[in-house]
Amino acid sequence: MESLFRCPLCQGPLDRQDGRYLCPKGHSFDRSAAGYVHLLPPNKMHSKDPGDDKGMATARNRFLSADHYRPLCDALSELAVKYAPDTVSILDSGCGEGYYSAAIYKALVQAGKEVKMAGVDLSKHALKRAAKREKAAEFAVASVYDIPVADQSAHIILNCFSPLALEEFQRILKPGGVYFYVVPGEKHLWELKEVLYENPYPNTEKLTPYEGFTYLEVQSVDGTIHLPDQQTISDLFQMTPYFWKTPKSGTEKLAALDTLDTTISFRIHVFRKD
Ligand SMILES: C[S@@+](CC[C@H](N)C(=O)[O-])C[C@H]1O[C@@H](n2cnc3c(N)ncnc32)[C@H](O)[C@@H]1O
Ligand SMILES: [Zn+2]
Repeated sequence: MESLFRCPLCQGPLDRQDGRYLCPKGHSFDRSAAGYVHLLPPNKMHSKDPGDDKGMATARNRFLSADHYRPLCDALSELAVKYAPDTVSILDSGCGEGYYSAAIYKALVQAGKEVKMAGVDLSKHALKRAAKREKAAEFAVASVYDIPVADQSAHIILNCFSPLALEEFQRILKPGGVYFYVVPGEKHLWELKEVLYENPYPNTEKLTPYEGFTYLEVQSVDGTIHLPDQQTISDLFQMTPYFWKTPKSGTEKLAALDTLDTTISFRIHVFRKD
């Protein structure tokens, strides 16, 4: 079956076979037992274990599996169904452990679409879980700044809290293709931040017009979630950038909590490639 991925060595198309991917020039890439493939060239590997580490991937996987972010997932699935043509190729850039990729894939299939779904991430720990979530989708270790996907081959790209690689998204999207960019709203995780910091700052919300793209809509997803135990609070904390920049006093206050109710607030910016 022809893959959405291309050969990282010669840029030729990749054929997805049992246990491996093969290009016409004979470059072969084994799929791991979990089902993902490593397509990051060794000279592009700047660390032995790039991307989210095992602990972070486990925390994200446990938190998302409990459906605390279900409203965002549902909104993304609905948008995907709305914008997808009947036969659709979709890329989740910085897909993490595949919570959104798998749900969007299922929603598109359920809507009667013929779907090619691929995800890339630097973290093999995250991809192990992604590949298990949805066996019909394909997942590769790769950088979002050098995505092993051919020019003008995707109808939809999703970027949910992952690095922004606009030039690559521009290159990969078909003309008229759609880009979903998920960013935090002003009060996202406000009550969590109130525990961590003396003077928390709200996130800045702004429109971000990008050359070569037209704004279609911005969808808001707002709510409150109940974190029922310390494990869940700690899992969420590890998923946030605050994990790396919180003073010890804040971390200790958070570690002493048994439960926490906090605001969630996402903005999905939807663009069409001109
Ligand atoms: C905040 S997580 C978001 C994951 C997923 N989209 C989600 O919302 O659950 C950011 C992800 O980006 C990945 N990442 C960071 N830098 C990357 C890069 N240059 N190329 C590919 N993935 C990268 C990390 O490994 C991590 O899985
Ligand atoms: Zn090749």
